[in-house]
Amino acid sequence: MKGIILAGGLGTRLYPLTKVTNKHLLPIYNAPMIYYPLRCLVTAGIKDIMIVTGGNSAGDFLKLLGNGRDFGLKHLNYTYQEGEGGIAEALGLCEHFAENEKVCVVLGDNIIEKNILDCVKAFEAQKDGAMIILKKVPDPERFGVPMFAADGRIVRIEEKPERPGSDYAVTGIYMYDSTVFDIIKTLKPSDRGELEITDVNNAYIKMGNLEWRELDGWWTDAGTFDSLLKASRLVAETGANKVE
Ligand code: DAU
Repeated sequence: MKGIILAGGLGTRLYPLTKVTNKHLLPIYNAPMIYYPLRCLVTAGIKDIMIVTGGNSAGDFLKLLGNGRDFGLKHLNYTYQEGEGGIAEALGLCEHFAENEKVCVVLGDNIIEKNILDCVKAFEAQKDGAMIILKKVPDPERFGVPMFAADGRIVRIEEKPERPGSDYAVTGIYMYDSTVFDIIKTLKPSDRGELEITDVNNAYIKMGNLEWRELDGWWTDAGTFDSLLKASRLVAETGANKVE
């Protein structure tokens, strides 16, 4: 399985911290934000990785990460997203990289305590379709929120609903077969002008092909002032997943 880190977008919710630099280069306790999604993939055994950058300071990713030697990698792939057309648009830039293999996608501002090795193994064994990773949260209205049928299957995901249909968030860790790139080509921009990853996941639900797992350990995003602070606190207090 190949890995993709989405670190594009303009990070406007963190302005002025992101006025001259990219959100994913900001510190989370003792490491730049981008280190955490990279560790997430590497600790799951994924070594062929594409980083989608965008906005400011794209060249600094190269200076910081180079070919990924600090993560035990021989090579890293990079591409650039113009503007802020959405998570699904950023993923669409990786079609040539995926070469019809399955992909594990991690949002560049998502940080986890443990690792996703079991989920990756389960998706490798899954014939096709998609798998998303959920986490119970106190504030689901900030995220994609799944609604469940009585048998535990997800019937629909709503993006930042005013009245959440469950207390689970869809984390920014997604696994897809190569159908994902065909789905992305059919998407229309949402009210916030973006191609939404939630629309991609709802397309898999319609095809009856979306599985889910619950994440072990803590999870947070780091795209707002509060969550940026929370992420640093969590890493300082308990540590996050590490490449040994
Ligand atoms: O963190 C999980 C949540 O991420 C999910 O629960 C939501 O369903 C999903 O839509 C997303 O929500 P956000 O609104 O918090 O996403 P945000 O716009 O902050 O983007 C998250 C990361 O995705 C960002 O750090 C970089 C990448 N991204 C985002 C956009 C808009 C891109 O690479 N390109 C983009 O155009």
